[in-house]
Amino acid sequence: MKNIMEGDEWNIVQNGFYPEDNLFTESIFSLSNGYMGGRGNFEEGYSGKTLRSFFHAGIYYPDKSLYGWYKIGYPKINNVVINSTDIIGIKIFINGNKLDLAHTNFKNFKMVLNMKNGLLERSFLIIDELKREIIVKVKRFLSIHNKNLLAISYSLTPLNHEAHIGSEPYMNCLIKNEDAQGKEETLWEEVSKDDRTLVVKTKKTEFHLASSMNVKIYENKKLKDVPLIPVIKDRYIGHRFEMNVKEGKTLEIEKYVSCYNSLNTLKSEVAMKSKENLESVTSYGFNDLLSVSEKLWRKKWDEMDIEIDGDVSAQQATRYNLFMLNSTFTGEDKKLNISPKGFSGEKYGGSTYWDTEIFCIPYLLHTEPEVVKNLLLYRYNHLQKAIENAKLLGLKGALYPMITLDGSEGHAEWEITLMEIHRNSAMVYAIYNYIRSTDDYDYMADYGFEVIGNVARFWADRVTYKKDRDIYVILGVTGPDEFHNNVNNDWYTNFMAKWVLDYAYKQAGWLKGYNRQKYKEICKKYNFTEEEFDDWENISKKLYINKNEELDVYIQFDGYLEMEDILASKIAKKMLPIVQHWSWDRINRSCMIKQADVVLGLFLFDDVFTLKEKKDNFDFYEPRTMHESSLSACIYSIIASEIGYGDKAYNLYERASRLDLNDYNNDTIHGLHITAMGGSLIPVIMGFGGVRIYDGIISFNPRMPKAWKRLSFRINARKRRFLLTITRDKLHIKLESGDNILIEVYGKKYQISKSKFLEMDISSND
Ligand code: BGC
Repeated sequence: MKNIMEGDEWNIVQNGFYPEDNLFTESIFSLSNGYMGGRGNFEEGYSGKTLRSFFHAGIYYPDKSLYGWYKIGYPKINNVVINSTDIIGIKIFINGNKLDLAHTNFKNFKMVLNMKNGLLERSFLIIDELKREIIVKVKRFLSIHNKNLLAISYSLTPLNHEAHIGSEPYMNCLIKNEDAQGKEETLWEEVSKDDRTLVVKTKKTEFHLASSMNVKIYENKKLKDVPLIPVIKDRYIGHRFEMNVKEGKTLEIEKYVSCYNSLNTLKSEVAMKSKENLESVTSYGFNDLLSVSEKLWRKKWDEMDIEIDGDVSAQQATRYNLFMLNSTFTGEDKKLNISPKGFSGEKYGGSTYWDTEIFCIPYLLHTEPEVVKNLLLYRYNHLQKAIENAKLLGLKGALYPMITLDGSEGHAEWEITLMEIHRNSAMVYAIYNYIRSTDDYDYMADYGFEVIGNVARFWADRVTYKKDRDIYVILGVTGPDEFHNNVNNDWYTNFMAKWVLDYAYKQAGWLKGYNRQKYKEICKKYNFTEEEFDDWENISKKLYINKNEELDVYIQFDGYLEMEDILASKIAKKMLPIVQHWSWDRINRSCMIKQADVVLGLFLFDDVFTLKEKKDNFDFYEPRTMHESSLSACIYSIIASEIGYGDKAYNLYERASRLDLNDYNNDTIHGLHITAMGGSLIPVIMGFGGVRIYDGIISFNPRMPKAWKRLSFRINARKRRFLLTITRDKLHIKLESGDNILIEVYGKKYQISKSKFLEMDISSND
C-alpha cells in the first residue's frame, strides 16, 4: 500500500517528487472530460519512468489477437483505443538546458488536483549549478464546457538572475503504444497539416483526428508579441520561441489545443471544426475558460456530491471516485461506454466490460437514470453482433462480449473471453434494475425484451441436460472469480442464468399483455414461439444450484471444497497480491478467490436471500477472498453492512474507495480502476445509506459507520429525487421532486410528500 497522496476533502496533493512512483502518480493525476483525456504526464517531458498517453474516447485500432495456437471461436481482432496525438507537450529550455525532472536539479515539488473544478497544478523550484533559481508553475484542465478544448498555463519566474528561456509548445503524433500488439511502428498516419492544425488518421479503422494549437506569451500578465517559429515535421507541429526573462518577472506560456475526431464528425470536417473551435476561444484567457468549466463542475457537484463529515480520508476518496467516474464518462453519446481504466492507461484498451452493468449502473441509476438508458441502448445496438458472437461458438441466441468497443469480442484470453459467459446475464440484470428504478416499462417493450429473449435463448442452448438427475447444468465456465477457470456449475453463473430464463419467460407473458403488437413483431423478428418461452421456464426450474447442506453455504463451483483450503489472513504480507507472487498453477489449485462471486449474487438479489444466508456465505467466503480484483471489496462491504458487521463494512469500504489512492493492489501504475470507482460508491448509497427498491417500494435502512458524523447525498428513484441526511442521532429524508410516495424506513411505511421531509430519531441505533 502506498501512502504518498495527501490533501483534504477537495484536493489530492502530492508533496515531494518520487521518481520510483512516477507511473503511479501519473495515473492518479489523470484528467479527462468524456471526449478525451490522458495521464498526469509532465508538459515538458520526462525521461525517467513514464507512460505518456492521451486518448480519444472510441478512437480505436483493430489490433491482432495473439495466440500460441488459434482455435475455433477465439476472436481474431482485439480493438483497442490507442494513444493519440500528444497535445500537452511544451519543451522548455532554461539557460540552454532542457528541463527534464529526471536530470534537472529542483526542490519543493507539489502537484495538486482540485476536484471542485478539475484543475491540475504543479510547481517546483529549479536550482542550477550556479545557484540560479527559477520557480515553475503549471496549470492545466480539460474543459467540460467545451469538450474539445485543452488549456495549459506554464509559467517560469527567475528569482535571482535574468534567464534565457526557450520553449516549443507542440502537438506530436509520432507516438507509441505499449500495449497494442500491432507490429507497425506507429498506428497513425498523417492526413494533412498547416502551421496550426495537424490531422492524422488511425491505420485500418481510419478514424480522423484533428488538433489545432494556439500559443500566447505573457510577461507579468501582459500579452507579448513574441515571434513564434513554426517547426513542422512528420506528424508534428511546434511553435518555437526564445526570450530573456528579467529577475522577478514571470513568463507565462498559454497553450490552447482544440481537438475533433471523426467518431461523430465527418472526416472532411474535423480540421475545420477544430480550427473554428479554437478561434472561438482566442479572445478568452485561461482563467475565463476555467471559470466556465468550473461553473459546470459546480452544477455537477450540487447534484452528485456525497458529503461525509468526520472522516477526511473517506470524504476525499469518495469525491475522487465521483470526480474520476464523472469526468471519464458523461453519458450523452450512445456510442460510448465506461472502460475500466478510462483515459488513465492503455490496459484494457478503452473497452467495455460487464463492469458497466454490474458495478457502475447501480450507482448511476441513483444519480443519472437517463445516462443508464444510453448505456442500455449501447448494448441494444450491439445485439446483432452478440447474435453473431454466439453463432461463432455454435450457439443460439446472443452472447455479449466480455470486452468490446464495437460489439464484437475483443480479448485474447480464452478463459476469460470464452468462459466468463456470466456477463451475458449482466445485460439482462441491468435492464431489470433500470426498469425497477425508473418505471420506464416502455423500455422493456421497445428494446429490453429483444436483448432479454436472445440472452435467454443462449442460456437455453448453453445448458446441458443430465438425464439421470433430471437437472440442467452449466459446464466449462469461469465465474466472476477469475482465479478458477473451466469450472462446472459456477454458482453465480447458474443462479444468474436460472433467473434470466425465468425473467425472460415472465416478461414474454407481460409483453403480450402490455403491447400485443410489439410482442408479435418481436416474436416474428426472432422466431420466438410460446413453446420456446415455456422451455425457458422449464429449464430455469431444473437448473442446478450448488449448495452444501452441511456447511449451509452455496458452493462456488463443483469441486470448490476440494481445493487447497487456505485463509487469506494466513498468507504472508510479502506474498500479496498473490497474483504477483504465486504461479497461476498454485492459484488455480487453491480456494483463494479473486473477487466476490457467490457474494455478488447475494447482493444483486438481496431480496431473494435471507439475512442468515448472507451471513453464512459471507462468513465462509470473505476469509477466502483476496479482493485482488478492484471489483470485490465494494460488494463485500455492502453485505457486511447489511448483516451488521459495521467495522468490517467500513474497512472494506476503505479498501474499495482508496484502492487507487493507496494502490492497494499494487497495479495503479497501469491506470486507475474507473469502473471500480463506480462500484465503490454503491456501499455508500446501498450499504451505509441502505437505499433499496423492493417490490416497487423505495426503502431506507441507513447504517452509518461509527467514525462518521454526517452522511448526506441525493438519489433518484422512481422518477423522484430524495435528499438523505444521516447524523449520529437523526435521519432526515426530503422528497425534493416528484409525486408523493409511500416509502419504507427501517421496515416501517411512511407517506412522503413533495418538498416535505421525514425526520426521525435514530440515536438508539448507535
Ligand atoms: C476482473 C474482471 C473485470 C476486469 C475489468 C478483472 O481483473 O476480474 O471481473 O471485468 O478486471 O475491470
